[in-house]
Amino acid sequence: MSAEKKTRAGRLLITGATGGMGRVCAQLAAAAGYDLVLADLSAEKLETIAAGCAQHGADIQCHTLDVTRPDSIAALTQTLLPEREAGKGLDALIHTVGVSPQMASWDRIIDIDLVGTAAFLEAAFPTLNAGACAVVISSMSAYMAPPNADIERVLAAPLAPGLMDALRAIPGQTIENPGLAYSYAKRALKQYVGDQAANWGSQGKRIVSISPGLIDTEMGRLENDAMENFEAMRSRVALDRLGKPEDIANTALFLLSDKAAYITGCDLLVDGGFVGTLNREMRQRAGS
Ligand SMILES: NC(=O)c1ccc[n+]([C@@H]2O[C@H](COP(=O)([O-])OP(=O)(O)OC[C@H]3O[C@@H](n4cnc5c(N)ncnc54)[C@H](O)[C@@H]3O)[C@@H](O)[C@H]2O)c1
Repeated sequence: MSAEKKTRAGRLLITGATGGMGRVCAQLAAAAGYDLVLADLSAEKLETIAAGCAQHGADIQCHTLDVTRPDSIAALTQTLLPEREAGKGLDALIHTVGVSPQMASWDRIIDIDLVGTAAFLEAAFPTLNAGACAVVISSMSAYMAPPNADIERVLAAPLAPGLMDALRAIPGQTIENPGLAYSYAKRALKQYVGDQAANWGSQGKRIVSISPGLIDTEMGRLENDAMENFEAMRSRVALDRLGKPEDIANTALFLLSDKAAYITGCDLLVDGGFVGTLNREMRQRAGS
């Protein structure tokens, strides 16, 4: 083993690794000294990302993963579990998988962003070493959906059988809209992370979510282009710029580090001040 190998930062699994945020997480993590396990839908795209990260001396494995398919999740964990038993477990996880309102129907969004994500996190839990941390990407949309006790009660148990039927049975069909489904799914994911803190903490592991704002990725551009009121939305960003994938990746790397050792079970808004500005605006409107 080379001197450099002995000082690697740890072993990090990144899901959605070929996406806008995932691939920047991979590049920055490799440069920071992590060895990587990269997972996403396309094997070909994963190889391209891995080749870009290899220059930093990282040991890199690639796995295809579809979080909506239990056999695909099992295939990944069946590789990772024996590795943990052999003393080569994961020290960290960044889960960026998601689809946005312009990309999928409401039920597909629930299936990927919440149900598949929760199923994946449960399966990944035993592959992580004691002391490991998982960072899960939610969205600032989680802060923006109107409260709906019926929807939120059903989504609070994302792995319960019959979840989709229970959602369809809620009067008003509020969730049968991709934009609202995305917001409720991401809010439920944020809550799931909080709910999991005790279980993860009992094994010395942490779990945290990040809620990004308007981030300049392919997904972000797709959503922004479809927004009628994009300029009004954009004007609420207190820092007066779109977020970069690096803003999210650097926050994730901080949360994985020992500097964040007492942070678990909570959400970090990385939105350039969007939600704070929106909340102030709404209070002012309500008061006028
Ligand atoms: N870009 C933004 O403005 C923004 C804002 C808030 C939150 N987010 C969230 O951040 C995360 C990353 O977003 P991004 O901009 O990098 O998007 P992206 O579309 O570039 O990346 C998402 C990745 O998820 C993967 N994926 C989709 N379905 C999957 C499945 N069933 N199984 C496994 N992988 C799957 C895709 O292949 C893709 O690589 C998403 O969860 C998104 O909801 C993005």
